Amino acid sequence: MLLLGIESSCDETAAAVVRDGREVLSSVVHSQIASHRPYGGVVPEIASREHVGAFPVVAAGAVERAGVSWADLDAIAVTHGPGLVSSLLIGLSGARALGQVLGKPVWGVNHIEAHLAGMFLDPAAPDPADACPLLALMVSGGHSCLVEMDRVGGYRMLGQTLDDAAGECLDKGANLLGLGYPGGPAIERAAQGGDPAFVHFPRGLEHAKNRTTGNGLAIEMCLSFSGLKTSLLYHLKNHPDDRERHPADLAASYQEAVMDSLATRAERALSATGARTLACVGGVAKNAVLRGKLETLARRHAAALLLTPLAYCTDNAAMVAAAAGLRALAGLDNPPAVEADPSLPLVEEE
Ligand code: KG4
Ligand code: ZN
Repeated sequence: MLLLGIESSCDETAAAVVRDGREVLSSVVHSQIASHRPYGGVVPEIASREHVGAFPVVAAGAVERAGVSWADLDAIAVTHGPGLVSSLLIGLSGARALGQVLGKPVWGVNHIEAHLAGMFLDPAAPDPADACPLLALMVSGGHSCLVEMDRVGGYRMLGQTLDDAAGECLDKGANLLGLGYPGGPAIERAAQGGDPAFVHFPRGLEHAKNRTTGNGLAIEMCLSFSGLKTSLLYHLKNHPDDRERHPADLAASYQEAVMDSLATRAERALSATGARTLACVGGVAKNAVLRGKLETLARRHAAALLLTPLAYCTDNAAMVAAAAGLRALAGLDNPPAVEADPSLPLVEEE
């Protein structure tokens, strides 16, 4: 099964050709980071305008680099949510136009499910059936959640952030520290050689228990990052010299608070589920401190560790084609891509 994947849910315009859900023949990503950097975050109007210009080049580039012809494609898989509606619409319209011209089906893919499929793009990764039951820590700029996966298409939401996403927290923290955008890699770089115990920043919801959230999730498995960001703001107000005198220590302490929060929540979920595999997906999964903590955790719980290849952590289209391919190969339907849903849930009854 040969699929063209299309991704445009945020600020990356991407297209990729993937065979049988696992074999990446090409993956083209047009990053808009430079266009959004002056604003310290993604500006939706700029993102959608840039998607329009990049889409034809990126889509044609992916097919050309894969060494296949348009006629060889079995279908087109496009992210239809969640994400920025104005960004989603560009990829969706482009994919539907291509589908119409080529006479191929156009399938809608959930962006979170695509991130989950990204972990199987490592040629050394096991088959999904052998990796399940699996616990995935999904951490990106827009989402942070813990998902239990018992098969392709079989997901249960165990916990999620009640406010900011982990990547968003890093982006906002880097902004306060004057480290630039995107914040995750900037903080990781700045933290090199710093003391992660220099400031003990709060770990949100650390001691919360015996409660469920409005959507029925155990509070022990949920995350909160808004207090951390405020705490950094106050630290900088109370210690105005620290930014210049201790940049690495501050970055390392802030990074440690984010990654420690994620690791403790992942550990609780791993204990509760007894999952065979611990996995990490999304842009923040690139972080070496987080990867190290998850390695330790997996060892302690005798779980296999499945880390997404670095190239497929941040948004890309190979994971989109992979998600649709894995579903099709598992005998599951892929819904036709009809409209963009900015808040499309991973699990229906969520
Ligand atoms: O998955 P992604 O490309 O977009 C969303 O779906 O949201 O993730 C982007 C996020 C940004 O917040 C960025 O700061 C973060 O991933 N990120 C990192 C690293 N590289 C990217 N966070 C921590 N360490 C990194 N090395
Ligand atoms: Zn993403």
